[in-house]
Amino acid sequence: MTRRGAFVVVEGLDRSGKTTQAEIMRRRIQEGGREVVCIKFPDRSTPIGKMIDSYLHSQSDLDDHVVHLLFSANRWEFASTILSYLEQGKLVLCDRYAFSGIAFSVAKSSQTPISTEGHLESSLEKLSPITLPWARAPDSALPSPDLTLFLDISPEVALTRGGYGEERYEKADMQKRVRNVFEEIGRQVSANAGEAGDGRWVVVDAGRDMSAVTEEMWGHVQPLLDGVDSPVGRLWE
Ligand code: TYD
Repeated sequence: MTRRGAFVVVEGLDRSGKTTQAEIMRRRIQEGGREVVCIKFPDRSTPIGKMIDSYLHSQSDLDDHVVHLLFSANRWEFASTILSYLEQGKLVLCDRYAFSGIAFSVAKSSQTPISTEGHLESSLEKLSPITLPWARAPDSALPSPDLTLFLDISPEVALTRGGYGEERYEKADMQKRVRNVFEEIGRQVSANAGEAGDGRWVVVDAGRDMSAVTEEMWGHVQPLLDGVDSPVGRLWE
């Protein structure tokens, strides 16, 4: 029986070099003659993705719970596509996934509201904050990665890399909270990982020079290039 492809997720804080590293990884895998498909979340090309894009550029305001569900729905839009690539034996390399969804929503919700003026802030106060269990729920049963590489960088080092961009979450205090939630998610994923180490969460120090980070990531991806025997897992199950 032919083996299915591996599902590899790259997660990380803004400015961790995640997208650059994913691209280097894609080229290396292809140069080695293997088939690889790259996916990125949010995928801004769909109608749901366009709503997310407008929100991230602060062109629209949405309740935090709604935004969270949109990000999750955006992943569900591609869930069957991911499964079919894996069945075809292709390695799926995914730039951000459900873990970003949880980390950003929970971090945002733990923020003290700056102002209580205005409709959104005052109504948000009456709603329950987004907790980790609530945030996990809509993504449960999505295809589960065989390996997650978390590119870790301190917000201070991230700032030295040219500062954050213009998007909503690209602020140092938010990034600190996101990093803390990612740490907790990493513990939960590791507790769920199989005995053979499948579904592993690996923290990669992304504060080092680029080639050191690439080599460490490669060391984890290489054993998965020949595919995986076990069926694709389901997230949080
Ligand atoms: P992304 O397009 O990856 O931005 P960048 O390439 O600059 O890292 O992600 C945009 C923002 O969306 C980023 O701040 C993380 C956030 N995000 C969520 O809040 N929830 C999610 O489910 C995902 C996938 C991303």
